[in-house]
Amino acid sequence: GLAGHADYMGKEIEEQPETAARIIDRLAPSIADGSLWASLSVPAFERVAVLGCGTSLNAGRVIASAFGALGDVPNSSLIASEASTAIVEPRTLVIALSQSGETADVLRAIDDLDLGTSSLVALTNSDHSTLARRADSMLNCHAGPEIGVAATKTFVAQVITGVAMALSALAATRRIDRDYARRQVDDLRRIPDLLAHAIAASQKAIPPLIDEIRDAQGFLFLGRGSGVVYAAEGALKLKELTYRWAEHYPAGELKHGPLALVEAGTPVVVIDSGDRRIESNIAEVEARGGRVIRIGGAGSTVPALGLSLGTPMPGGIDRWGPLESVVPLQILARDLALALGRDVDKPRNLAKSVTVE
Ligand code: F6R
Repeated sequence: GLAGHADYMGKEIEEQPETAARIIDRLAPSIADGSLWASLSVPAFERVAVLGCGTSLNAGRVIASAFGALGDVPNSSLIASEASTAIVEPRTLVIALSQSGETADVLRAIDDLDLGTSSLVALTNSDHSTLARRADSMLNCHAGPEIGVAATKTFVAQVITGVAMALSALAATRRIDRDYARRQVDDLRRIPDLLAHAIAASQKAIPPLIDEIRDAQGFLFLGRGSGVVYAAEGALKLKELTYRWAEHYPAGELKHGPLALVEAGTPVVVIDSGDRRIESNIAEVEARGGRVIRIGGAGSTVPALGLSLGTPMPGGIDRWGPLESVVPLQILARDLALALGRDVDKPRNLAKSVTVE
């Protein structure tokens, strides 16, 4: 039941720290020694491709980048509904992500792809799903039941489980050493607290913004590097819950077109994942009177986010991005949707499990 919450989405947002802690506690002992990876019995791989739809695709993109940032593994992501003609090179680790494990686009993609010597791992929230049965091996993200149509805690659960798998795979195949893997696990252990802090800070900082953006018809979401996928997730949540137009862009693309959309009062949500060049993009928006909502970094609308970036990596590359920044994005979409009288658990036209192509 709702256990005192107004809606399932609100409940599931608030469950994220506990869900994350449970997953990390369970997986942590088997990450750095490679045993998590060994338990999946996956053959040697040279590259990684993830596939999924919607929020699961976004989680997959975070995981694919983690393989690259942590272990220099070439990686790509495939939109499941467009994947059937993709060429999968030999010795690719293919990770199919689906919360439900029943998404028709994903099942079709894995049927159509010629996997040859490549291996398919399913990352789902259901052991008994069709995807879990059809994959060579499977990893359950153990988010617990998610009732709200909008994916929230399953995103966090997929990212953490997938990053744990990536670390374990990289350690098992000696692409990273165990000490390095252990330090990454220590950083993963900070995530539940960062999520809890993000919830408390967002519940304070977001409601006062809602009146100001209530009548806005369009929203931009910008990020750089690892922030781009969080921008994508923020725009997806906003449009599905509020029925307002929302687009995401890598911030560097702003001046190549979308800046023309910005006028006085246009809400522009900027995810700061540590790339200093974001400051000039913020200045470009503000010079046109755009209303910047900054997530992370100095002057963040929601204070002290971006800490899960941890120790900066050489070249400024980070690993799984500012994971806790998804919280204010979820809360922004939910609060605005509620202010507009939307049903946040059952957005119009959408279904929790999409079993048609
Ligand atoms: C967005 C959302 C959808 C799903 C997508 C994939 O909030 O929930 O975009 O992420 O339909 O669903 P699964 O993960 O079940 O394959």
